[in-house]
Amino acid sequence: MNLLIDDYTLFKKKIKELIGIDLDGYKDEQIKRRVKILMDRVGAHNFLSFYKAIEKDQQLRKDFIDKVTINVSEFFRNTDQFDLLKNKIIPELRNRFKKLSIWSAGCSYGNEPYSVAIILDELGIREFNMLATDIDMEALKKAKEGIYKLEELKNITEERLKRYFTKLDNDHYKISDRIRLSVRFEYLDLLKDKYPKGMHLILCRNVIIYFTQEAKDGVFRKLAESLEEDGILFLGNTERIFNPQNYKLKPVDLFFYKKVV
Ligand SMILES: C[S@@+](CC[C@H](N)C(=O)[O-])C[C@H]1O[C@@H](n2cnc3c(N)ncnc32)[C@H](O)[C@@H]1O
Repeated sequence: MNLLIDDYTLFKKKIKELIGIDLDGYKDEQIKRRVKILMDRVGAHNFLSFYKAIEKDQQLRKDFIDKVTINVSEFFRNTDQFDLLKNKIIPELRNRFKKLSIWSAGCSYGNEPYSVAIILDELGIREFNMLATDIDMEALKKAKEGIYKLEELKNITEERLKRYFTKLDNDHYKISDRIRLSVRFEYLDLLKDKYPKGMHLILCRNVIIYFTQEAKDGVFRKLAESLEEDGILFLGNTERIFNPQNYKLKPVDLFFYKKVV
C-alpha cells in the first residue's frame, strides 16, 4: 500500500469537512506541488500534520486557500479573443436574445466580468444580467470593491482608463460605479453547487485547467445545461473540449462553443 496516497486521501477528506473545498476535483499532483512550500514553512512532513497546522493557524488556512484557488487574472485576458467577443459573439447573441444573461464562472478579482461589462457599455447594450462567481471569498471581496493597481490595468487602453476608471492615488484606480454595480458577485463552487439556468453567455476561463478529467466532464455538462439553445460558452486560451457533441456543444470559433439541441 502507498502510504503517501493514504495520507493525502485523508487530508482531502478532512479539508472538505473543515473548509468545504473538495480537493478530489483537482489534479493531485498540482495541489501537492503548490502546497509544498507551505508544508515546508510549517515543517510538516506529511499531509496529516499539515492538516493539523491548517486547523490551528488561520493565516495558514488563508494561504492554503490561496494556493488552491490561484487567482491570477487580467482585464481583457487574451485581447484578440475579447475583440472577437465584442465584434462578433456578443452582437450575434444580441440579435438572438433581447436581454442577455451572462455568467463569469471563476471570476477571481472581477477583471473578467468587468471587461465584459465595459464591452457591453461600448456596444450600447444596457439591458443585461451579469453574474460573477468564485469560491474565494477574499477574491470576491476585492472584486466587489473594484480597486486595482496600475500594473493590473496593463490591457486597458488610455481611452478606457479615462472613461471607466477613477484615479484614487498614484498607484490605484477604481472602476466606475456604473460598471461595478452592473455585476452581481456571489459565492459558487463549480464542483458542488447548483448552476444558474437560462444563460446566453458563460465565461469559464482558466478555471477547469486545475480539475481532474472526471470533474471537468461534470462541469462541462452542467455549464452546457445552464446555457439556452444558441448560448455561448467561452473557455480559456489553453482549454479545449474534446467531444463537445457529448455536451450538446458545437465549436464556433477557437475557445467558443455554441449550445445546440
Ligand atoms: C486563474 S483564475 C481565472 C480568473 C478568470 N476567469 C480569468 O481567466 O482571468 C481561477 C479562479 O477559479 C476559481 N476557482 C477554483 N476552483 C473553483 C471552484 N471549484 N469553483 C469556482 N471557482 C473556482 C479560483 O478561486 C480563481 O479565482
